Amino acid sequence: MCGIVGYIGSNNCVPVIIEGLKRLEYRGYDSSGIGVLDHSKLTVIKRKGKVSLLQEIVEKDGMTSNLGIGHTRWATHGEPNEINAHPHFNSENSLIVIHNGIIENYRTLKTGLEKLGYEFLSKTDTEVLAHLIDSFLKRGHNLSKSVRFALNEVDGTYGIAVLYAKEPDKIVVARKGSPLLLGIGNGENFIASDVSAIIAHTNNVVYLEDGEIAEVYTDRFVTKTIAGMPIDKFVEEVSMTLEEIDKGGYPTFMLKEIMEQPESVLNSIRGRLLEETGDIKLGGLTGFEDRLSKVKRFIITACGTSWHSALVGKYMFEQYLRIPTEVEYASEFRYRDPIVSSDDAVFFISQSGETADTLAAMREARSKGALCLGICNVVGSTIARESDAGVYIHAGPEIGVASTKAFTSQLIVLALITVLLARRKNMSLEEGRALVKEFNSLPQRIQEILDKNSEIEEIANHYKDAANFLYLGRGYNFPVALEGALKLKEISYIHAEGYPAAEMKHGPIALVDENMPVVFIAPKDSTYEKIVSNIEEIKARKGKTIIIASDEDYDIEKLADHVIRVPKTASILMPVLTVIPLQLLAYHIAMKKGLNVDQPRNLAKSVTVE
Ligand code: G6P
Repeated sequence: MCGIVGYIGSNNCVPVIIEGLKRLEYRGYDSSGIGVLDHSKLTVIKRKGKVSLLQEIVEKDGMTSNLGIGHTRWATHGEPNEINAHPHFNSENSLIVIHNGIIENYRTLKTGLEKLGYEFLSKTDTEVLAHLIDSFLKRGHNLSKSVRFALNEVDGTYGIAVLYAKEPDKIVVARKGSPLLLGIGNGENFIASDVSAIIAHTNNVVYLEDGEIAEVYTDRFVTKTIAGMPIDKFVEEVSMTLEEIDKGGYPTFMLKEIMEQPESVLNSIRGRLLEETGDIKLGGLTGFEDRLSKVKRFIITACGTSWHSALVGKYMFEQYLRIPTEVEYASEFRYRDPIVSSDDAVFFISQSGETADTLAAMREARSKGALCLGICNVVGSTIARESDAGVYIHAGPEIGVASTKAFTSQLIVLALITVLLARRKNMSLEEGRALVKEFNSLPQRIQEILDKNSEIEEIANHYKDAANFLYLGRGYNFPVALEGALKLKEISYIHAEGYPAAEMKHGPIALVDENMPVVFIAPKDSTYEKIVSNIEEIKARKGKTIIIASDEDYDIEKLADHVIRVPKTASILMPVLTVIPLQLLAYHIAMKKGLNVDQPRNLAKSVTVE
């Protein structure tokens, strides 16, 4: 959601913070702000819109200091404007606060503070924190204690950073439900909500856990619980490089991430395939295989694109493991008192590992005794750390808001888990070996599809002005239809729906006329004949058909306005291939409409509010 970055040391903090905010901009981008402390004076500059607008004004102003914090916002309370942007001051302008998350009881707190004479300038929940902390400072407590006391009164989630003019040697940060970490440098320290903001300066980080607070000085840091108990924290080394979060010559992060899928998929399978024995090795599940083979039921919960990969996972688990698998939106699962027990294993799929609803769903399942398994991309993320076990997808940093390479790598990991467990059940050596071969050939096959980029771009020319789109698939490719429609919606703002192809007859077919493009995902698999009938039904109603078909399927031509061919692979791995033309189609349509695909309106990369 929003992004936080801060610096304390002997260099000028302003370029460090602006650069960090730009790297975090994918998390929230409706407004941004920076606050610095210099000679006991706090100065704040805020702007509506992109960080580049903030940068312009900051540079013009000549702002400079050795201590500062910055924020890029995704509005929750109060519209995106300069007043609501962070940092927020206390009344005397001696303290500033930036905040990610939501203060749920802010109305009650605000009323109480107003009774004490505090006046509010913004419509945000965050401003409450500035005044609440101030009320404890006024009672004679130091900054760290005042922040702890204030947070004790707060319901909700936060990652916060605070500067106080009367204690100009530190930044105080705290977290509950919203990520926050310290970057440890040499004679300088950093704070951030995401390691990508500070990776240019240090690889050494300290992750705060929920309910922890830190005082960060130039050369040291002190960590405590919100209750005031001292705690020791370890410095961890992260392996992310700066190149991984740069565009690498592509015009957008999204295109870069689509194009690097041969490599990201290779990274997801690397070291995990045992060719000789047709087995799979997943270090993160070592010791849990027996329990997993015996569970009565799998549940997979997630949000957004990760939820679509969960749906593919259901098809995989049920076909190969014969274990009933339920897929549920994390936001629904967490609030419906789900029936979960220690007989169940629950998977939590999350690219970021920070999505608020998925995290809360995991805590709910854990409290009911289920085995909790994370499938995450971001190493060291909260879901990865709090799950009993899990598997990293190793897709590398994904910056484009619309998920692409994380999706294909999630599918890979789900398929790896399937084969790992199926080999312990009744999958034969031959079948295991054959699937291992298929995994190995995926990067090359993905490349073959990516090589059709200009062909797909040409198709996009025909449809950039469409108002609606339908995406239809069956079996393993039904969730791919959902994902294709989501990609188009997210970045082109064209209304699109995904459906199981046969279900189309029960409603959506009423929308079909000569203006309706219908994308069919129809590779040659066990559902092929059936989906051909569905294509005929659309053609009979003059719908335009764009068909994702197998390489050798020439009969399909007569039913298609456009065909995009994909190579063959095992059905279980087919979605990894069929989704790629859909990513490119959505990409090119959005680009032809002149839209910002990396930062589509209203969306955020990591949704850390519920
Ligand atoms: C946001 C993003 C989506 C993503 C979803 C779940 O809505 O815009 O691209 O699929 O969150 O995120 P997660 O990090 O949990 O996979």
